[in-house]
Amino acid sequence: MCGIIGAVTVESVSETLLEGLKRLEYRGYDSAGVVLIESEVLKFYKYAHLNKSIEKLSKIAELNSSLATVGLAHTRWATHGVPNDVNAHPHADCTDSIGIVHNGIIENYRQILLHLEKKGHNIKSNTDSEVVAHLIEDNLLVEKQSNQDDPLNFVRAVRKSLNLLKGTYGIAAVSSDFPGQIVVAKNMSPIVVGLGNSGNYISSDVAAILEKADKFLYLKDNQIALITQDNLRLYDIDLNEIDFKTTEVTWSYADAQKLGHESFMLKEMYEQPVAFKNTLADRDINKLELFFDEIHFDPNRLMDIQKVFLVGCGTSFHSAMVAKYAIEHWVRIPVELDIASEFRYRDPILDGSTLVIGISQSGETIDTLAALNFARKSRAKIISVSNVVGSALTNNVDAVMFTRAGPEIGVAATKTYIGQLAVLLGFAISLGKFRGTLFKSEAENYFRELLSCSDKIDMALKRREDYNQLAQKLSGAKDFFFIGRNMGYPTSLEAALKLKEISYLHAEGYAAGELKHGPIAVLDDQSTVVGVATKNKLYDKVLSNLEEVRSRGANVFVVASDSDEEIGKHFENIFYVPDTFELFSPIVDIIPLQFLAYELAKLAGNDVDRPRNLAKTVTVE
Ligand code: G6P
Repeated sequence: MCGIIGAVTVESVSETLLEGLKRLEYRGYDSAGVVLIESEVLKFYKYAHLNKSIEKLSKIAELNSSLATVGLAHTRWATHGVPNDVNAHPHADCTDSIGIVHNGIIENYRQILLHLEKKGHNIKSNTDSEVVAHLIEDNLLVEKQSNQDDPLNFVRAVRKSLNLLKGTYGIAAVSSDFPGQIVVAKNMSPIVVGLGNSGNYISSDVAAILEKADKFLYLKDNQIALITQDNLRLYDIDLNEIDFKTTEVTWSYADAQKLGHESFMLKEMYEQPVAFKNTLADRDINKLELFFDEIHFDPNRLMDIQKVFLVGCGTSFHSAMVAKYAIEHWVRIPVELDIASEFRYRDPILDGSTLVIGISQSGETIDTLAALNFARKSRAKIISVSNVVGSALTNNVDAVMFTRAGPEIGVAATKTYIGQLAVLLGFAISLGKFRGTLFKSEAENYFRELLSCSDKIDMALKRREDYNQLAQKLSGAKDFFFIGRNMGYPTSLEAALKLKEISYLHAEGYAAGELKHGPIAVLDDQSTVVGVATKNKLYDKVLSNLEEVRSRGANVFVVASDSDEEIGKHFENIFYVPDTFELFSPIVDIIPLQFLAYELAKLAGNDVDRPRNLAKTVTVE
């Protein structure tokens, strides 16, 4: 949730750090800060100001003109300690000679704090993070006494400090005694190192350093790295040096820019046809292996699978729901669906014949990572679906399927949702063919149909004006229910989430048939019900459900198929979408509802890319 960037280069780092902070600001922040090493002295600059602290930092002349070539910066989203200047990162030790930035939560910081205070440390903030700087201070003293001028003293001191920490962290540290070094360590919170021509960089998010580096290394849990201007050394937790291979990231700097669009979210919505097409390019339903971008097991083992679990959070949970319906229909294996934060606590029954698919666009959502860790211990086969090459979710799994949507900056997921639907639906068809529940010709027809959805998304996107006119009629509405059945149900959930995320309006997604079991009591003439009623086998039932809510006075809007000539006779406000095969309808039906959320957010004057209280990637439990 917090953002980290650091640089050790041949030139001044201030601009790189400030620019990096701006790249991270889409995650939302309440404070920001920078530490620079100038002539072996650490200089700290920190501000707490909701979404404005980077602007304030950018105006500090001393910071802007600094010639320091090493520094760290951080955007904070408060978890422990209110947002104020003192609680902002970077944090220092007692003598301001060590600076650290931290992402994650140190769960046992209170015990560590007591221990440090007893030893006479002066703790200035109320955060869980500051203790790390003081632990390093103590350990560095010991290292210096026993190893004198050993250049590895700092990395050893950081390593020893990790011994005491319980919780999650991505940590970067600098020391005035080692002015050319940055040390980073990771446990559950992301850290990526970028190697560039003018120096080396670290960040919590590759998008922040895309412009500066061309080779990247995503740290794995319990790894520590020592970064200097011309070198990177990677260590395991016992400080054995380990070899590494860097990854090249195909995303360009331009991919992470707005490029003239009014917001990242709108740009990303328009990128959906391409995201969809790219994700399916080179996949072949007749060769299941081609669905996997990384594979570390014999795919024939998928013949033995008796049960599938799909886990994810937020939007990724909704694509998991679409995949459940598709896999059960085509592959005839029972599929369970789990919100990742619930999965491991409910003691699910897993064994070697279980397949667990973890879905996360960022690949860093801690709940989803923890769910897969749990599954790993039970010998289940694990496949992850992510948009980020090298992300934690793709480590230590049997296979990985990437969505190829490019970087998604807007907090509300759009193009990565479409990418997830593409790869999961394609995989379901391929698995059906592989396990013999679909004939080759059937599978080919379905896949052809799936590929054609990219044009349908495009057609729907071109109707923005029509959709906006309908959305404007809902300006001022406060209570929304999105209802649908079968494949319309995940679409309803996703539409409600989009509206909540960026418009801050109360919205619920409900199975249309379930509405009468309670929620219908809430409805009156102040309620808006949006029904997903595109042509499918439950179409008539959805219409009956919509009639029921209309008779309770609700204002009804409908998503309907272009070919539906009847619906206009019954309802006035209709978002028409291109006709789509039932199991693929979520891909197209969500488009007008994304526009609905977007338009209402704009009318309310909200910052759609940085909705309040939300973070794009949630790295705390
Ligand atoms: C956060 C975001 C949601 C997103 C969810 C899962 O809560 O605000 O928009 O759907 O995380 O993210 P993931 O990266 O795991 O797909």
